[in-house]
Amino acid sequence: MKILVTGAAGFIGFHLVETLVKEGHEVVGIDNINDYYDVNLKFARLNESGIDRYLITENGQLIASSKNKTYSFAKIDITDLQKLEKLFVEENFTHVVNLAAQAGVRYSLENPHAYVQSNLVGFVNILECCRHNKIEHLVYASSSSVYGANSKIPFSEEDRVDHPVSLYAATKKSNELMAHTYSHLYDLPTTGLRFFTVYGPWGRPDMAPMLFAKAITKGVAINVFNNGEMQRDFTYIDDIVEGIVRCVSTLPKKQPRAEVFNIGNSKPVDLMEFISTMEDCLGLYAEKNFMPMQEGDVKKTWANTELLEKVTGYAPNYELKKGVKRFTDWYLKFKAIKN
Ligand SMILES: NC(=O)c1ccc[n+]([C@@H]2O[C@H](COP(=O)([O-])OP(=O)(O)OC[C@H]3O[C@@H](n4cnc5c(N)ncnc54)[C@H](O)[C@@H]3O)[C@@H](O)[C@H]2O)c1
Repeated sequence: MKILVTGAAGFIGFHLVETLVKEGHEVVGIDNINDYYDVNLKFARLNESGIDRYLITENGQLIASSKNKTYSFAKIDITDLQKLEKLFVEENFTHVVNLAAQAGVRYSLENPHAYVQSNLVGFVNILECCRHNKIEHLVYASSSSVYGANSKIPFSEEDRVDHPVSLYAATKKSNELMAHTYSHLYDLPTTGLRFFTVYGPWGRPDMAPMLFAKAITKGVAINVFNNGEMQRDFTYIDDIVEGIVRCVSTLPKKQPRAEVFNIGNSKPVDLMEFISTMEDCLGLYAEKNFMPMQEGDVKKTWANTELLEKVTGYAPNYELKKGVKRFTDWYLKFKAIKN
């Protein structure tokens, strides 16, 4: 397979590239390396994949990885249709994994336009390029946030998801609808993945695990929203990557060829349990600021992953302690680049 991974300097994209390359695939990564969070972390991830930040150009030229012969990277924004079309025509991809997006629920209240650009304009560009270049399968990131404030748990793919509580969630639900249309009109096989709170090494600095690790190791109080009365289906990054890889090679069978799966750990954890597990792994106590619920946020997420298990054989391998320990070990080793 020759696979395009968008968002390759991001948390999930970086890990996915590493795995796909190890499995022997030819991989091209793109990312606009935006400054939603510290670009040094994005460059550090690229560096891990053998991409030298000082060789990256603004004109979208591909740079070969110094570590993996089958990996190359270009700085390209998915909203730039011209550069994207050129890349698709020149590179002849067989598969595309679209992870590039403006992520984050809370930031969508501050900067809605960033979400419209990357998640809607950018996504339609990806769909158009896939359609015109006969891509065999497009796998793309959706989100557990599409379930909004649904009270029926665990969340299942057949549940109604028509009541998003953030613009971020609305753009992700839109992606599922847009992909369905392209599968229907142009027979483009598409698979959307609703990720549930992903954590692990090289994680996102705007998400709780990284925010907590940073504050706890600095002796600063952590903010605990809704007074800690929240549950999240925390999912370790290796399980997410395993699920994505399985989906890439599993074409949707039904007509139109549009599939959507939950991908989570299927074991919701109390926020306070997550914090105490992190305290244990770091050997440090966390000062806590108990805060009210934040707008746009949801109290509980829990993935029903039976469909993904049935279709692809996916089974998560990381229970909380094992995952958090791996994360904190990495954090302590690499914290110099993140603080
Ligand atoms: N991490 C999670 O828990 C989680 C949960 C649900 C959904 N998701 C989704 O999974 C995907 C990957 O998330 P992540 O956690 O790795 O986030 P991330 O922010 O670390 O990675 C996304 C990458 O996309 C890049 N990007 C953004 N807009 C772009 C554009 N217009 N053109 C090119 N590149 C662009 C960013 O620079 C970033 O490196 C996103 O679509 C996100 O919405 C993540």
